[in-house]
Amino acid sequence: MNEILDKSYLSEQVISMVVSAPEIAARRKAGQFIVLMTAENGERIPLTIADENKERGAITIIFQIVGKTTACLAGMNVGERIYSILGPLGSPTEIENFGLTVCVGGGVGIGVVYPIAKALKEAGNRVISIIGARSKNILILEEEMREASDELLVATDDGSYGFHGFVSEVLQKLIDSGTRIDRVFAVGPVPMMRVICDVTRPHKIKTIVSLNPIMVDATGMCGACRVAVGGKTKFACVDGPEFDGHEVDFRLLATRLRMYEAEEKKAMEAHRCHCHG
Ligand code: FAD
Ligand code: NAD
Ligand code: FES
Repeated sequence: MNEILDKSYLSEQVISMVVSAPEIAARRKAGQFIVLMTAENGERIPLTIADENKERGAITIIFQIVGKTTACLAGMNVGERIYSILGPLGSPTEIENFGLTVCVGGGVGIGVVYPIAKALKEAGNRVISIIGARSKNILILEEEMREASDELLVATDDGSYGFHGFVSEVLQKLIDSGTRIDRVFAVGPVPMMRVICDVTRPHKIKTIVSLNPIMVDATGMCGACRVAVGGKTKFACVDGPEFDGHEVDFRLLATRLRMYEAEEKKAMEAHRCHCHG
């Protein structure tokens, strides 16, 4: 059982939690995730490890309330214990000194790209980050991303802060201005990652995306997280979650993410948040 040590709201629907998990904190690397269960009879959900504090034996998770389990987790408070946390899982991000790297985060995807930006900077890269949200009031981790980057560019869909438009447009402008980019890392909604790849493909800029298919066991056994990359079947939980975005079949990913929409809606409607009690 893992105790919740801190909890704060980054926006109305996005929560940051610091959770006691000494063994995971000691071993985790950027790009890895955990699988969490709020209760014994609960669903297993994957969440990225956004940060760690080895001295405190704790990890940080940042999650958006989208359905039953994330709503249940959001209902838990400091001092309560999460039933189980398994990790660190997945292959770590390939971190080298590539030169000029651009980290793009959309919405809650900023929480996933944050540890990657931090690790790239520590490895000596020049890091330009582009973060975006629908509106200023739901933009998360601006200060943390500024600290993890040499330069931070911000966009909002409604123009309430920074550039008026999508993060992909900011990247396009950066490329058009003649900036020579060695590698792009992009995390966010599936359409965003697809569009970012369309922007970088003509310039042959290697682009790594972090995929979020539905996962069940997260050990490579069940096949739930099947994705197609370069025409081959890969399991995101063990072969990923990061892949070369120019090779990813985003259409298949989007279809598979919608597979249980009706069941998810039913579960959320029946949700009364006694699930961790
Ligand atoms: P549901 O109502 O069950 O589903 C809502 C949405 O989440 C649907 O789009 C559904 O397709 C998707 N989803 C449902 N169950 C799963 C599952 N077991 N695995 C993956 N997706 C699922 N979200 C964050 O907010 N922060 C993160 O740091 C984060 N990191 C992730 C890292 C990985 C490797 C993956 C695969 C996903 C990550 N996600 C993250 C997405 C997160 O797992 C889902 O939002 C969560 O599982 C939703 O559960 P729910 O019961 O609240 O919602
Ligand atoms: P959102 O819909 O508010 O979009 C966030 C930003 O992404 C926008 O402000 C915009 O800049 C960009 N964007 C969105 N659609 C775009 C498009 N069609 N073209 C170009 N840019 C676009 O995001 P949200 O509500 O915070 O949801 C975050 C999404 O991230 C969810 O779909 C979730 O499944 C996904 N997610 C992915 C991972 C992962 O590991 N890949 C982890 C967590 C969440
Ligand atoms: Fe079961 Fe990846 S979640 S194989």
